[in-house]
Amino acid sequence: MSPDPGDFSTPATPPHPAWLPDAAVAPFRLDTVCVLGAGAALDAVRDELTDAPSADAAEARLVIARTDAVAAPSALGLPALPDIPDDGHAIVRAAGRVAVLGATDVAALRGFYALVREHAADRATGRVRPEGTVISAPSAPLRMLDHWDNVEVHPWMGQVERGYAGGSIFYAEGRVRSDLSRVRAYARLLASIGVDAVCVNNVNVHAREARLLTDDLGEVARIAAQFRAYGIRTFLSVSFGSPMTLGGLATGDPLDPAVADWWVDAAAGVYAAVPDFGGFLVKADSEGQPGPFAYGRTHADGANVLAAALRPHGGIVLWRAFVYDHEQDWRDRSTDRARAAYDHFVPLDGQFADNVIVQVKHGPIDFQVREPLSPVLAAMPRTRLAIELQVTQEYTGQQRHVCYLASAWSEYLGFRLDGERTVAEIVTGDEQNSPGAVVGVSNVGTDRFWTGHPLAQANLYAFGRLAWDPTLTPTAVLDEWIGLTFAAASDDAFRRIRVALHAMMDGSWLRYESYTAPLGVGFMVSAEQRHYGPGVDAYEYSKWGTYHFADRDGVGVDRSVATGTGYAGQYPSPWRERYESVDTCPDELLLFFHHVPYGHVLHAGKTVIQHIYDSRHDAVEELDAVEAAWESLADLVGTAAVPAALDARMRELLCEQRRSAIEWRDQVRSYFFRKSGVPDLAGHTIY
Ligand code: GCU
Repeated sequence: MSPDPGDFSTPATPPHPAWLPDAAVAPFRLDTVCVLGAGAALDAVRDELTDAPSADAAEARLVIARTDAVAAPSALGLPALPDIPDDGHAIVRAAGRVAVLGATDVAALRGFYALVREHAADRATGRVRPEGTVISAPSAPLRMLDHWDNVEVHPWMGQVERGYAGGSIFYAEGRVRSDLSRVRAYARLLASIGVDAVCVNNVNVHAREARLLTDDLGEVARIAAQFRAYGIRTFLSVSFGSPMTLGGLATGDPLDPAVADWWVDAAAGVYAAVPDFGGFLVKADSEGQPGPFAYGRTHADGANVLAAALRPHGGIVLWRAFVYDHEQDWRDRSTDRARAAYDHFVPLDGQFADNVIVQVKHGPIDFQVREPLSPVLAAMPRTRLAIELQVTQEYTGQQRHVCYLASAWSEYLGFRLDGERTVAEIVTGDEQNSPGAVVGVSNVGTDRFWTGHPLAQANLYAFGRLAWDPTLTPTAVLDEWIGLTFAAASDDAFRRIRVALHAMMDGSWLRYESYTAPLGVGFMVSAEQRHYGPGVDAYEYSKWGTYHFADRDGVGVDRSVATGTGYAGQYPSPWRERYESVDTCPDELLLFFHHVPYGHVLHAGKTVIQHIYDSRHDAVEELDAVEAAWESLADLVGTAAVPAALDARMRELLCEQRRSAIEWRDQVRSYFFRKSGVPDLAGHTIY
């Protein structure tokens, strides 16, 4: 069952306003306003405020301005303009007036949306902002969403690979859509959360999509124009094999001068069509995509030839570190997929050009609900690095289950991976290390709610907010999102909605973890249903390198240095020691790092087997409260706060979440009972 799969030819209209409904912006149309300065992004602010009475800078109660358009600070009632970082903005409250300032039109636009957000969050928390100046600048200089969209509907991956929200907002009927109004609406949403780059096609570049780089540049330019107005740069995923498949060369060898020339010409062609083009995203030597290994070259050789072609235009290469053997023999215990990215990339530290960013998935396997942080992020100090998060919920409920991922991301970004710096600090860079990026795989499609599950909109929102400021708490971000999304609710309705949504979402990531694969062991997903629902042994004897090794005595993967694959040794201290020993390994990662007997006692006090039984049972029980929270809003259905269509979608999906969670619970519990023969001390039914 999947909600409203979306019509692949026409985006469902009108789309849900997501977190920018009219009611969120309306309060700013009541005051006298003045928008100062030129630029498309300031025109977007003018569009937002078209109905507001205007006044000149000295009189207006709200001024939104590019600093170079402010004739004199005194006109705004200020002694001097604040010192604002290039990419940042200032919100100045003085004498009952508000000024939003940025060095560019885009910065001022983001400042305006920051003001809208503050207003919404304050409604949630009751905070009254004092007078004064608040300056905000992004942590990561590049905050990018990757779309795994195909131009043509792929025979088995569909139009959006791992997409759970209908068709592509960019493409229909084998080409770029003629009507890109949905893309413009998306650009507005993204600008409001600070996203500044979008890659518009799948990292698996099939034959049709490869041609975006050459034949379709006029069409790519149309997409880029929608994003440009909101300060967002367009990127393309390109195939490393393009010089051969598109250029007719006999080789794609990155050290061959003809290949280098081909990339130079290709880059020049792109910039002729899209002058502010961002650059290329590349998945090479990974899951069947071509790459430099075929020529005995390294990934640095591969990335650098593209980087050289982009350099004169100011473009960058995002080169993915997701490289592993996807044709593994499950009998082979010497190969560990978790090790692969580090083994391939860390020896190349310092060899990548300075306009290459190596893009690293947050964990060493593949976006599982629980994985340790990738050790690659701590091990390449002379390389620009990006962390890649999966906003699309391939392994976290496929936008049918409530799973608020900000809880996970904030943990990852705040993790002190090298003992000192957080992951956010590593990708942000400092005096010694050049800046990288925070990247997410987008979760939107033609679905009327954009994201399938309406609450999955909060994940997209949180992605942008945490990429901008990784120190925000997930609950604070959720308050902003609720405040904006439900701005039309009356005060009383709003208070109730806020309580209900926190009850449903705050603990939803841990809840999802608790009814699916236990203690970090991962996978156990159905292969038939494309990673949805349980499939405990679905990948156990496969070629994909994702095994749990459960037998009658125990479960888990020994990744210790002493007796296992040695993966734990890829971490710096103190993590290598923490993960190496069963005595110090955190419970939630125990089976990722160790194979233990079912009777092994966790730090939390239970045996592994009893934990598996109890947590799956308890997590399903918790769904009563989740459903009750939504039910508590029943009397609001049909009001502006909770439209009937939203309620219908929510009910349909809560029902599906329960069905699926019960399936997970029963299959995982029964599987481990049958393997181990150990009874459940709590006596709950096992099948
Ligand atoms: C996962 C996902 C694929 C995707 C790949 C990637 O394996 O299932 O659909 O192509 O990740 O990130 O490249």
